Amino acid sequence: MTSNNGYLKNDETFSTRAIHEGNEPEQWNSLAVVPPISMATTFKQDGPAEFKFFEYGRSGNPTRGCLEKCLASIENGKHGLAFASGLAATTTITHLLSAGDHIVSMDDLYGGTNRYFRTVASRMGVQIDFIDATDTKKVEAAMKPNTKMVWIETPTNPTLKIVDIAAVVAIVKKKSDCFLVVDNTFMSPYFQRPLDLGADLVMSSVTKYINGHTDVIMGCICTKRDDLHERLRFLQNAIGPVPSPFDCYLVNRSIKTLALRMEKHMQNGLAVARFLENHPCVEKVIHPGLPSHPQYELSKRQCHGHSGMLSFYIKGNNLEVSKKFFQKLKVFTLAESLGGYESLCELPSVMTHASVPKETRDKLGITDGLIRVSCGLEGADDLIKDLDQALRAVVSV
Ligand SMILES: Cc1ncc(COP(=O)(O)O)c(C=O)c1O
Repeated sequence: MTSNNGYLKNDETFSTRAIHEGNEPEQWNSLAVVPPISMATTFKQDGPAEFKFFEYGRSGNPTRGCLEKCLASIENGKHGLAFASGLAATTTITHLLSAGDHIVSMDDLYGGTNRYFRTVASRMGVQIDFIDATDTKKVEAAMKPNTKMVWIETPTNPTLKIVDIAAVVAIVKKKSDCFLVVDNTFMSPYFQRPLDLGADLVMSSVTKYINGHTDVIMGCICTKRDDLHERLRFLQNAIGPVPSPFDCYLVNRSIKTLALRMEKHMQNGLAVARFLENHPCVEKVIHPGLPSHPQYELSKRQCHGHSGMLSFYIKGNNLEVSKKFFQKLKVFTLAESLGGYESLCELPSVMTHASVPKETRDKLGITDGLIRVSCGLEGADDLIKDLDQALRAVVSV
C-alpha cells in the first residue's frame, strides 16, 4: 500500500515500539521509566554456573539487553544484537563463514566494508567477488556452489544506487546454505525494513541515523532467524566486540526521536536536492527521491521515504574546486560520517572512500568532484543559502 507521498506506506506503530519495546518499567525493581545504566561487569551467581539473568558483561548486560530488544522491534525482527561499531557487526557476520567460502558483494559500498572484505577477510581464506547488484542478473551469474553470503547496501554509499532487495532475496533463497545481508545504514529502519522484504540479516552503523547525535560509535544486526541469531550471539561473546552500557543508554534514548528526526532529514534532503538540481554551478545531483534518479520508481516500491543523504558533482569536477568549496561553507561542516542532527559534507574520493582502489572509484563515478552531503536538522533555507554562496564563490557562471 502506498502513502500520500507515493512511497510504501509506513507503519504507524513504529514510534510506539521505538519508545516502549525493551523499555518496560516492570523489568526493574525500582520500576524506572528510563532504563538505568548498569555498569557492572559481572553478576552474582546463586551457585557455580547458576545465574538468573546475566553472568558476565561481555556476554550480556541489562542496558544492552533493553537496547537490543528495541532494535529488533524497530527493524521488524525477532532478535537484535549490538556491537562496538558498524564494522564490528560486519566482521562478526563474516565470522559465520569459513575459509574456502565465497561472498558476493555489491561493488559500490562503504569504503571501510570494501577494505575489510578485500584486505582482511580475504587473508582468512574467504573469496569475494564485487559486482553491480543493481543488475540482479549479475548477482545470479556471480553465485557459486560455495557462495555463503550475499552482501548489499542500498542506497549505496556514496552514489546512492538502489538495489532491488526482493529480487536479490529471490536469487539467494534458491540456495539453502546462503544468506543475504542488507546494510541499512543510509535509510534507518524508519524508512526501509529489509527483513520484511525477505533479507536474512540487516546490519546498520548505529553511529549514523539510529543514534543521530554524532556522539556514539556502534553497530547492530537484526534478524527473524533463530539459527543465525544463535550463532551470532555465540560470536558476539566469543569475539567480544561489544558496546559500553553508557553508549547503549545513549542510543536507546536517541531511538525515541528516530521517526521525527527522519521526517525532517527527508524534508531537508529533498529541498536541498531540488535546489541543487537547478543550480548553474552543479553538473548533476544524485538523490533517489528525485524523478531524475534512474531507480526512482523502485525506491518508492521498497522504501517508506528517504534520509538526508545526497551527492552531487560540482562543475569543473576537480580537487582544487572541491577543496575551495569546502572552505567557503559556514553551516555545513567538512567531516566524515553522516546521519547526525548537524549537516556535514565530505569528498569521498580522498576521505571515506580513499581506501577503495582508484580504478574501482573511477568505474563507480567517485571522482574528485563528487561531494557527499548529509543534511541535518537545521532550517532548510539556511542549508540552501550556505551551499549557494559557497558554490557561487568558487565556480564561475
Ligand atoms: C553504509 C555504512 N556501513 C557501515 C559503516 C561502518 O560503521 P562504523 O563507522 O560504525 O563502524 C559505515 C560508516 O560510515 C557506513 O556508512
